[in-house]
Amino acid sequence: MAHDSRSYWIDTTPPSSYRSLQQDVKVDVAVIGAGIVGITTAFLLKRAGLSVALVEARRAAEQVSGLTTAKVTSLHGLIYADLVRNFGEETAAAYGRSNEAALAKIAGLVSELGIDCGFERSPAYTFCMDAANLDAVRGEADTALRLGLPASFVDQLPVPFPFAGAVRFDNQAQFHPRLYLLRLLREIDGGGSHVFENTRVTDVQEGQPCRVETRAGTLQAGRVIVATNLPFLDRGGFFALAYPYAHVAMAALVEPESVVEGMFISVEEPTRSVRFHSGPDGPVLIATGAGFKTGHGNPEAAAADLEAWVSRHFRVRAVHSRWSNEDFVSKDRVPFIGRMRSASDALWTATAFGAWGMTGGTLAGMILSDLIRGEPNPWASIYDSTRIAATKGASTFLSENLDVAKEWVGGHLTPGERAAADLRPGEGAIVTAASGKVAAYCDEKGKMHAVSVTCTHMGCTVVWNGLSKVWDCPCHGSRFDIDGEVVFGPAIDPLAPASLS
Ligand code: FES
Repeated sequence: MAHDSRSYWIDTTPPSSYRSLQQDVKVDVAVIGAGIVGITTAFLLKRAGLSVALVEARRAAEQVSGLTTAKVTSLHGLIYADLVRNFGEETAAAYGRSNEAALAKIAGLVSELGIDCGFERSPAYTFCMDAANLDAVRGEADTALRLGLPASFVDQLPVPFPFAGAVRFDNQAQFHPRLYLLRLLREIDGGGSHVFENTRVTDVQEGQPCRVETRAGTLQAGRVIVATNLPFLDRGGFFALAYPYAHVAMAALVEPESVVEGMFISVEEPTRSVRFHSGPDGPVLIATGAGFKTGHGNPEAAAADLEAWVSRHFRVRAVHSRWSNEDFVSKDRVPFIGRMRSASDALWTATAFGAWGMTGGTLAGMILSDLIRGEPNPWASIYDSTRIAATKGASTFLSENLDVAKEWVGGHLTPGERAAADLRPGEGAIVTAASGKVAAYCDEKGKMHAVSVTCTHMGCTVVWNGLSKVWDCPCHGSRFDIDGEVVFGPAIDPLAPASLS
């Protein structure tokens, strides 16, 4: 039984195997990034009669969308009271309705295509453990109900851990995200449309048509959608408008009597999030623990803390895997979906789903596929991706750059944490070599992997993530594998090779 850093969803599905781009191709729409946003958008555009090319730098549905807990819900922690305060009742209600529509879209596609992905309806709960938070929880339930959502306050939960009360949303859902996404992928490839994997886009030149440059060829497309978690293109400045946030997660086989109906997430930190999945070897508990800004926490310690909590409250047969995920959070907690910048009709994007990317990503696909075709969409204005840049961009950009400067200076001036010779198999650290600081990893066979500590996006110093065995950038969340290859951006280029001698 595996007990590794690959997510349960990735470990229980075969890898996809689409060809890479080998020659120039011309399509109506190029979609960059094959996670739930890119796959859903490409699927809906093709269904509407457009030719699409979906381009993934690595393998489809393995990066951000392969690391989710896969709750399909419009209950996003405590958000509705905030939305009412910041945007008013009408917008808050529309936010809820749009996420319910995304849930219905997934349910409809599962039914129509007969997707065997464990999709099942389930109530969702946001619960508090501390009675001091009961007013906020009760207020959220009241607000959500008033907005027309399927909400109620409950003071009884079918769970074995302590709680004080919860918001409950009825008729939400959960599924195996990769089984769902791999099936949609099959619908995209063929008939004049394409899925290309292992094809990294290096630049997009706007024009008529746009030119999407890759290392192997050029895609020509009338419109281009950048769906790479945070857009890898800096146009639009999204790296200054959203911050990267990571949670640790785990999957464990549990005894059947541990299973309860529902999906649960706590108000308090460290996060306690629990749901169950029916796997071939019996019930599987999917849990998430502490969250922190990427590169600013200790994923290994947080995963150990989560595992101890799970073992205390559930009858665990075996821990299957532990991993860390990442998503971006916007300043106002609402995703950005739409034009990359207001002056351009050519470039489109979606980002910052605040860890609720299954509904948010599906909704992004629905909105983008409408807007690209010139069709009205009832929710597009709520998520307008240019909404903040016009008003608050300068100040947020400045504060973010100060943060970047701090990481850059701090990272480059402090000495390496360890000597390379001290690294044991499975360990990584910033070490001091003759050439200076080096990001070094000693693999399980004792082979050293050494790369530059300098992130290729804007020059911050990467930090070791021992849980997922990757290098994370604390500035804008780029992630690199042990040989420096980009797992996800905004970085495009790999970490440079380095020498330990
Ligand atoms: Fe921006 Fe690394 S992701 S500096």
